[in-house]
Amino acid sequence: MIAPAPIIAPSILAADFAHLADDIARVSDADWLHIDVMDGHFVPNLSFGLPVMEAVAKVTDKPLDVHLMIERPELWVDGYVGAGAKTVIFHVEATEEPIALAKHLRAEGCRAGFSLRPSTPIEPYLSMLPHFDQVLVMSVEPGFGGQSFMPDQLEKVRTLRKYIDNNHLPVTIEIDGGIGAETIAQAAEAGCDAFVAGSAVYKAADPNAMVTQLRDLAAAAR
Ligand code: DX5
Ligand code: ZN
Repeated sequence: MIAPAPIIAPSILAADFAHLADDIARVSDADWLHIDVMDGHFVPNLSFGLPVMEAVAKVTDKPLDVHLMIERPELWVDGYVGAGAKTVIFHVEATEEPIALAKHLRAEGCRAGFSLRPSTPIEPYLSMLPHFDQVLVMSVEPGFGGQSFMPDQLEKVRTLRKYIDNNHLPVTIEIDGGIGAETIAQAAEAGCDAFVAGSAVYKAADPNAMVTQLRDLAAAAR
């Protein structure tokens, strides 16, 4: 079987917020757009919330990959689903009822994803994977763009890859944090399907060319 092409998801956290529509147009070759929502509580930073998500949804047809770095995500997910999220990812550290929330998202027609902080082990969560469409492995401490990639998190990716393949689960493994031309190959080799890149894409002179370069590097490494 030929593996599907790697998914590249630029994070608009690294875009120019005063010219968001222009910066979204500059990544027209991206597969998804990654939307980093931070509440200043779950993470020590605030980014943006639903009004910005709604505005973004109006100017793009790209699937929106929504990463909720917020406490009590169950109170907020409906807004993001209503705004057209393709996938909503919440943190397992932020909710008591991850499976109930995943079921709710799926019932609403949205893909369900969970994420974990670098210090959170994956093993206790493997058995809930049948309820999910995606796992987002954090390769930096959530809260800020532009941090250095943590290679030790690839062990989590390998564990997930093995479990997902052995159980024939249709779950996408995505990685987030410090992904760029120097780091994407090792993440792809470990078994990631989807790659978030903020700084690497938006600091590039040609963001679209960087998207293509990242996809090619990931495809070659798998
Ligand atoms: C971090 C966010 C990431 C971040 C990635 O909390 O979840 O999506 O924006 O940015 P880079 O690619 O710059 O590490
Ligand atoms: Zn993110």
